[in-house]
Amino acid sequence: MAHRVCPWWIGYLLASPLRRWLGQDPVKILSPYIREGMTVLEPGPGMGFFTIPLARLVGSSGRVIAVDLQTKMIEGLKRRSVKTNLLDRIDARVTSAETMGVSDLEGTVDFTLAFAMVHEFPDAGRFFAEVARASKQNARVLLAEPRGHVREEGFVAELKAAATAGLVATERPGIPRSLAALLVKN
Ligand SMILES: C[S@@+](CC[C@H](N)C(=O)[O-])C[C@H]1O[C@@H](n2cnc3c(N)ncnc32)[C@H](O)[C@@H]1O
Repeated sequence: MAHRVCPWWIGYLLASPLRRWLGQDPVKILSPYIREGMTVLEPGPGMGFFTIPLARLVGSSGRVIAVDLQTKMIEGLKRRSVKTNLLDRIDARVTSAETMGVSDLEGTVDFTLAFAMVHEFPDAGRFFAEVARASKQNARVLLAEPRGHVREEGFVAELKAAATAGLVATERPGIPRSLAALLVKN
């Protein structure tokens, strides 16, 4: 599996509303899982295609912690958060390749969105272990990978790494152009 990190300028394309016309409507994808007041973790948000709708869905009593390896992605995300007046609900952090730096969240996260990013992470086992530690009991994780970059066998390997960390697949939701699974923390 490749671990090449998506170039920062692709962040502009990924955040484009045109993506909805390709079938990836963030509200449709996320609203079954999000309630007001939730704490949501979003590793690898890019410039925030999903982060802005997530922040709207959690409402003023919720928060979204978005952690990305690339400073330029986080800068773009912050600009979009300011424009949409949602910066107070979004904790946008630059992280390192070694750790997501979310140990302060231990046991507090209700939902994690890992969209099109685990295949870029150097070690899926370490990724899911960090997510599991940050999650509450029974918290859910929506994992989605682009079909163009990840094959079914690679996705199955990610699901195995998730299960080892205590995040078990319960559903395979249909998301256009993606391999997806809903995981639950045991
Ligand atoms: C293909 S983009 C997907 C962006 C966003 N999730 C979306 O679907 O629009 C992958 C993102 O993951 C980030 N990323 C890659 N490796 C990472 C790591 N080890 N920790 C945090 N973010 C990472 C990249 O910088 C990039 O913003």
